[in-house]
Amino acid sequence: MISTDDIAQAVAILRAGRLVAFPTETVYGLGADARNAGAIRRLFAAKGRPADHPVIVHLASADAMPEWASRVPAAAVTLADAFWPGPLTLVLPRAVHVLDLVTGGQETVALRVPSHPAAHQLLKAFGDGIVAPSANRFGRLSPTRADHVRAELGDAVDMILDGGPTDVGVESTIVDLSGDYPVLLRPGGISPAQLAAVLGAPPDAPNAASPRASGTLPSHYAPRTPLDVIEPDRLEACANQRAASGLSVAVLARRNAPPVRSGIAWHVISADAAVYARALYAMLRELDAGGYDRILVEAVPDSDAWLAVRDRLRRAAYREEE
Ligand code: TXA
Ligand code: MG
Repeated sequence: MISTDDIAQAVAILRAGRLVAFPTETVYGLGADARNAGAIRRLFAAKGRPADHPVIVHLASADAMPEWASRVPAAAVTLADAFWPGPLTLVLPRAVHVLDLVTGGQETVALRVPSHPAAHQLLKAFGDGIVAPSANRFGRLSPTRADHVRAELGDAVDMILDGGPTDVGVESTIVDLSGDYPVLLRPGGISPAQLAAVLGAPPDAPNAASPRASGTLPSHYAPRTPLDVIEPDRLEACANQRAASGLSVAVLARRNAPPVRSGIAWHVISADAAVYARALYAMLRELDAGGYDRILVEAVPDSDAWLAVRDRLRRAAYREEE
């Protein structure tokens, strides 16, 4: 699908300080040369992202960690060995040369080695770090397909590498290793149980001293349509009630539609956590475009396998006022 010519063109665009969107195993990223301040400013403008939000540096291999981090703790080596290439981001003390635009002015830098073949080819051919936030407008749903990127960013992106739908579907797990203990900043493609299996204990929850992460803002990954997460046993009643008050309602549930009132569009999504995560953002985008007054999502289980999905649904649901 993606040719070596495409990769060569993408590298030339990045070297020219311009932007290339590319697939990773989690979501599509909007890439810029991690050493080019002008390119990163252009990236922030394309996303509409505030300049003090740090971005992840993507690398072809863990061997480049010492180039970007001033200290590589033993836990970083352990986690990199176990999960790279893959959907894990490590926050480490920054190397001196790392741009403030990359770190958001913090003393740490986020690093990740993605496993998607196109991402890997691009990073290898570019030969250096590529910063890549998710290729969406700030605060919106991350893109899991190339056409989502086009819809989000239009001409603000100079090239899109189309690698088809992404596999994991939610963003990488972020673990902060800059303090005394590993801290889980964002649940994602790698679960706490998987981390615990190699670290010996699960990572801590973030505290007041933990680095900021914009993906941990209360309202993020949000569709425009107001969205509510509803416990399974109240789902039909809630949908019926909203429809009775004249609202058009889309339901996203892990089971087939029971008899419900007209005015309710019942959509089924997988009951398997990995399959659900893969489909979630594309499904929310579709529902968001459907012109409904409300989206009601059936709450998902409170277990390790569902942690990342629960987290994204909670953030998609948050709204300051009705
Ligand atoms: O799966 C992913 O991680 C995707 C793909 C494209 O790799 N990228 C992604 O990037 O989700 P972005 O920018 O949408 O989210 C990165 C998160 C943000 O919440 C940011 O605040 C946090 O990582 N982050 C980046 N650098 C950080 C740092 N030094 N300390 C703490 N958090 C950091
Ligand atoms: Mg993002």
